[in-house]
Amino acid sequence: MLSVGPELRLLQLLSCVILVLLYQVTDAERDLKGACSTCKQITDNFNKGYDRTTKQNFGGGNTAWEERKLSKYETSEIRLMEILEGLCDSSSFECNRMVEEQEEHFETWWFKRKTKHPDLHKWFCIETIKVCCPKGTFGPDCNACVGGSDRPCHGNGMCDGDGTRGGNGGCSCGHGYRGEFCLDCIDGHFSEVRNDTFSLCTECHPSCKTCTGPTNQDCDECKEGWEEDDQEACVDINECSRDPSPCKEDQYCLNRDGSYSCKACDSVCSGCTGAGPDSCRTCAGGYQDTDGTCTDIDECSQPEPECTEEHQKCINTQGSYVCICSSGYEEQDGKCVEAVQPGERRKGRSHVLCAVGEVYLATIRLNE
Ligand SMILES: *[C@@H]1O[C@H](CO)[C@@H](O)[C@H](O)[C@H]1NC(C)=O
Repeated sequence: MLSVGPELRLLQLLSCVILVLLYQVTDAERDLKGACSTCKQITDNFNKGYDRTTKQNFGGGNTAWEERKLSKYETSEIRLMEILEGLCDSSSFECNRMVEEQEEHFETWWFKRKTKHPDLHKWFCIETIKVCCPKGTFGPDCNACVGGSDRPCHGNGMCDGDGTRGGNGGCSCGHGYRGEFCLDCIDGHFSEVRNDTFSLCTECHPSCKTCTGPTNQDCDECKEGWEEDDQEACVDINECSRDPSPCKEDQYCLNRDGSYSCKACDSVCSGCTGAGPDSCRTCAGGYQDTDGTCTDIDECSQPEPECTEEHQKCINTQGSYVCICSSGYEEQDGKCVEAVQPGERRKGRSHVLCAVGEVYLATIRLNE
């Protein structure tokens, strides 16, 4: 017997503990950021409610008596209650819980702190219940974000946990930037301005993979679909001029900056150089060249008749024709026989089928 049993079990236990810890850490992180956004929503709604009750009750043309009554309302408990009622959607559990748990703080602020601390978000969310931090700071102690609290991530990214008691203060850089401090440029961008605290990255010319400036002559390396010309500028490769063509037989090639595409030829063509019936290499079967455009051949007007069975007539179609029985005749076993008048009885399975009158598709011959 091998003696790995206990060690293995210990390892399993340990990894379980680590997983649980990790889960709790990320969960707590979410809670910290979430608590701040709940609080922010509450104080935003408080301010809206405050404005709403102002407008509602201070319309023009009040009598002196009304003025006195209203100025009392301005700071009254009734007004506070009206504002508190509109703080949360009834469906928002977190919001309603926070308001319920912290209701006394709203009263304190309303009656005692409002004048000295007019910014409710700052007083309530940041300083009193401590679920948020000032802008540009993060975490339990509201430390400055990477790059400083004035311009987190040097203005080129988002600081994790910015303005909340959560996060780690690290940067996720905006488009064009990378690095811990969001001062470096990503591939396809070049540094226009740069010092220790400021960086401006600008997109390269579309022909460059990497570059040192804005034009197609500033490329370090050309992008795929572009090549260097004799002036060391990156220019488009015309894939369509390649031999053989990169497209299929029944397609034409359309060159684009940095790429190309293959498009289907018009249905009247057999091979083509562009769109439409006038760009065919040759015409498809059933079509003929008329002054450079492929047009339908009327097989029914040819000197040699196409529909040769008795009582048949020829109907021209786009690219082809059909032979059908003349009126008064119907198809039976490949022949056109006299049709039975309605009401007349005749033996045979096709009686019902042919009641409609003429039957198409007697013989369909595709022109070859
Ligand atoms: C960095 O560049 C910016 C923008 O040009 C400028 O405002 C700032 O003063 C510069 N800082 C330093 C340390 O040179």
